[in-house]
Amino acid sequence: MKKRQSNPKNDSDQESQTSSKRQANGWWGEGPVFVFLYNKSKKEAITNGVAEEILQFIKESEYTLHESEALRVIRIDNEYSHPVLFVDTGKETGLDPLDHLRMAGYRLAKWAENNAIKTLMIPPLKDDSEAKRYAILQGLCHASYAFDKYKNKKTKKMDVEYLFADNMEIDGNSLQTLFSGIDFAKDLINEPGNVLTPAIMANIAQSIAHKNGLAIKIRKGKDLEKDGYNGILTVGRGSKNEPAMVTLSYRPKQKNIYHLAFVGKGITFDTGGICLKPQDKMSEMKCDMSGAAIVLAAIKIISELKLPIEVDSILCLAENRPGENAMLPGDIFKANNGKTVMIENTDAEGRLVLIDGLAEAATLGATHIIDIATLTGAIRRALGTSIGGLFSNSDGLAETLIDSGTESGEKWWRMPLDEEYAEGLKDKVADIRNIADDGPGAIVAALFLKEFVKEDLQWAHLDIAGVDFTAKSYKYTEYGATAFGLKTLVETAKKYSMDEIRC
Ligand code: BES
Ligand code: ZN
Ligand code: ZN
Repeated sequence: MKKRQSNPKNDSDQESQTSSKRQANGWWGEGPVFVFLYNKSKKEAITNGVAEEILQFIKESEYTLHESEALRVIRIDNEYSHPVLFVDTGKETGLDPLDHLRMAGYRLAKWAENNAIKTLMIPPLKDDSEAKRYAILQGLCHASYAFDKYKNKKTKKMDVEYLFADNMEIDGNSLQTLFSGIDFAKDLINEPGNVLTPAIMANIAQSIAHKNGLAIKIRKGKDLEKDGYNGILTVGRGSKNEPAMVTLSYRPKQKNIYHLAFVGKGITFDTGGICLKPQDKMSEMKCDMSGAAIVLAAIKIISELKLPIEVDSILCLAENRPGENAMLPGDIFKANNGKTVMIENTDAEGRLVLIDGLAEAATLGATHIIDIATLTGAIRRALGTSIGGLFSNSDGLAETLIDSGTESGEKWWRMPLDEEYAEGLKDKVADIRNIADDGPGAIVAALFLKEFVKEDLQWAHLDIAGVDFTAKSYKYTEYGATAFGLKTLVETAKKYSMDEIRC
């Protein structure tokens, strides 16, 4: 065993703050704890080395782990005489094999933190692969996120040291880049609406652009008007916090034939507007800018990883409120492509801001456009809180996104874009209306967006309204923002940059 890295996300300050509390509070004592990953139901060892002997021990002994337990510490009386932490990698059902490992990593990190463990020793994997190694590490990283800035009593953070086997090559830097991006997105999404207004979000994007050498264009008021970005202007009219469109561009020296544009819905708070939402859980609508946070974090990560591909991220920022000047049901505005839009429901605002982002993406010369949005309650009813909705006019792009999601622990289900349902979007006065009277809400919303995408461009729409936020502990998030979709976008950019895509 050789030291590879300590908890990648904890810094030395925390180390000194917590060292006084670092007293062993279990019988496992002060020394290192061995980790043994195994699949309990299959009676299969996942890790090697000393673990093999331990598995033998379980098989031969009378000892059985309690059904509900996924973690258990046992002191094995052998020549090592080390306490061994048993982690069941098969506890959850229905997860992808890599996600089982992420969950195992997450659980063991939580346990180590809660029990003030100094050192965990992770033996080599039996059927080792880079993907498996990273999955465990990702689980460890996920465990150290906490949004506690508004708590006087902060979450206790321990600096657990992980020792990995010699042959477990790990690129700690790229992992750190990914996770600082994931944590950055979660922090933005978890911020309340009174703090994170469109202008503040634009300032944050500006500082990222400055740090990472990205070109940035921030449009507000007159500049939006000049370019015909009336969707964003119309939605933002009811609030004194003025709306904005932020375009960030990453142009590496090394590039290929692909050019990705990410478009994010950035409603910093969605009250529903004049068609006011019911009060129940309305506070969760502070997360209605998840899409924008994700596309900002995606370009941050991609530029830090220096991926050889051109990428743009477009943030469509507005606050949806009733107010003196708010858009009214029945109002009509002209979109950038000349089509007139009648607002039947002011709560279907996401699609109105996105059409400007989609138009902007086309002007930048993108070959592939992916929008990501907390768009419809209907997608949550259709796919629940574990699977995101994917719509696309391109089989290749859809499959590449789904593959990227599978590798990242983010499940997507491709939904139909059947034109038959577009019938309901026809309006008697304007060219199109923003909702249909009936029909499948998530599909109708996607069909509305499709009206504003040039047919020769490959486009995908990711509806994350069911998965962006969790009210109860789910996978590696205890409460709040999940940043679902971010890993998929980064992985997709990797695939396009390496030309490892589906056609
Ligand atoms: N932001 C909501 C969608 C949403 C719902 C996000 C639940 C996260 C969780 C969106 O702007 C909205 O209100 N959509 C309406 C559309 C309807 C009026 C056609 C909806 O889904 O109810
Ligand atoms: Zn809404
Ligand atoms: Zn919304």
